[in-house]
Amino acid sequence: APANITNRTGYHFQSPKNWINDPNGPMYYNGIYHLFYQYNPEEPIWGNIVWAHSYSTDMINWKPLQPAIYPSAPFDINGCWSGSATILPGNKPVIFYTGIDPQNRQVQNIAFPKNLSDPFLREWVKPHYNPVINPSGDVNASAFRDPTTAWYGPDGHWRTVVGSKQGDRGVAILYRSRDFINWAVSKNPLHSVEGTGMWECPDFFPVSPMTTDALDTSAFRKGLKHVFKVSLDITRYEYYTIGTYDFVNERYIPDGLSPDNHTGLRFDYGNFYASKTFYDDGKRRRILWGWSNESDSVLNDWKKGWAGIQAIPRAVWLAGDGRQVVQWPVDEVESLRHKQVMINKKTIKSGGVVEVKGIETEQADVEVVFDVSSCLDKVEKFDPGWTDPQKLCSLKGAEDQKGAEVGPFGLYVLASGDGEKRTAVFFRIFKDVNKHVILMCHDPTKSSKREGLYKPTYGGFVDYDINKSAGKISLRSLIDHSVVESFGAMGRTCITSRVYPDFAPGSKAHLFAFNNGNAGVKILQLKAWEMRKALVN
Ligand code: FRU
Repeated sequence: APANITNRTGYHFQSPKNWINDPNGPMYYNGIYHLFYQYNPEEPIWGNIVWAHSYSTDMINWKPLQPAIYPSAPFDINGCWSGSATILPGNKPVIFYTGIDPQNRQVQNIAFPKNLSDPFLREWVKPHYNPVINPSGDVNASAFRDPTTAWYGPDGHWRTVVGSKQGDRGVAILYRSRDFINWAVSKNPLHSVEGTGMWECPDFFPVSPMTTDALDTSAFRKGLKHVFKVSLDITRYEYYTIGTYDFVNERYIPDGLSPDNHTGLRFDYGNFYASKTFYDDGKRRRILWGWSNESDSVLNDWKKGWAGIQAIPRAVWLAGDGRQVVQWPVDEVESLRHKQVMINKKTIKSGGVVEVKGIETEQADVEVVFDVSSCLDKVEKFDPGWTDPQKLCSLKGAEDQKGAEVGPFGLYVLASGDGEKRTAVFFRIFKDVNKHVILMCHDPTKSSKREGLYKPTYGGFVDYDINKSAGKISLRSLIDHSVVESFGAMGRTCITSRVYPDFAPGSKAHLFAFNNGNAGVKILQLKAWEMRKALVN
């Protein structure tokens, strides 16, 4: 019998069929969440791009609407690409998006709801005066896209940035407007970095260093920090920095605590791209949406008839130490939790596993706290040459025990009963001169035997002081058929992978905690929930 090739998710955002990519213009308006996304109405491959539209009251259950923005005028006749939403004074939303014109130039357009009293904002009107921003001067017209949510300055001007490149230099071109219609380019870009290539989907938002309270995109006062993120076309990863917005000189200046290039901090160290945040005025939090593409073969995408999902939306805020952001799945996802099992104070001996029994785990949420306090003094030495966490994860893997005292330990998710098929989600701990170094990895190399799959190992360092927490470190994984989203140390390091387990027909997914290090590792507490199916489109 054929193995299950659909691996369709049960509670992630996806379309009934065809291709999806970037989340666009997410917003909260009069009690309703809107999500638009890049969509091919015809095929499960990229092309014919429109803005599909869904709405929700909890960001988990979604109802579909007709596409909101689709090619209809010269300024977008060859495609309606990514963009954002801004709520103007008087509670009037506006969409900013990239249109592809008859010469295949990328131009920036705006659109307004046709009828503000329609609670679902079904129809959008594109004024005849579009485009409102043209690629002028020496701007590369085929690298000029993805306008951000605009912010309002104390000088009465709106501002937005558009992603671009000049040669190899990634650039965020800054524009200014009083009325949202007439836009003037700023003399200097908001930010630019040599050697990073095209900056897709820039995102720029304020965060508060004092509290975890979220801020509206236009919040502006002394002492605030800003996050600036770009999606790199050449690496297909995103990176961000934390810095200061110098309003007077119209520039963003990174703090310099992390690299401002493709080796910098990431929201997610896995399959997560073209992300975008918005301020949720309902629950006063900033929400991050990101697209997770298939790692399946294109042939299978055709067989399944669909490709692409959106990761579970995450609340995002500045970590207390100001060094990075922290992310956590929106609380609403917990409404899908039902059957729960728990394991308390159980040691996993070297080379051992502990199975989590009693629930179905193809659609699950797991939270575990490990305790390694008994062995922190005998960890493996860290080599300062190990600068690339992803490489280190593939080099060391989930199996290697040679010289490894603490870890690899973690979870085998979407595993077969004998544990041979599995995706390993794990930590490994090293000792640098005067601190511990924590590596977090996803190793899907044993997730499936199906042909044509892309099974990259992903990894990130976890900037977390394990001594301060007396040897405890937490891990949460959202498991959903073909996706695993993991949150290390309460959301300091996140990794998303797409996997396509090919269990024998009739057999189910298993979940284990494992330890392949020499020293025993204790599960302080593990809670796992079976997740209900969400109503998605
Ligand atoms: C990012 C991206 C954007 C573009 C859109 C087109 O994935 O390439 O830069 O606007 O997708 O679908």
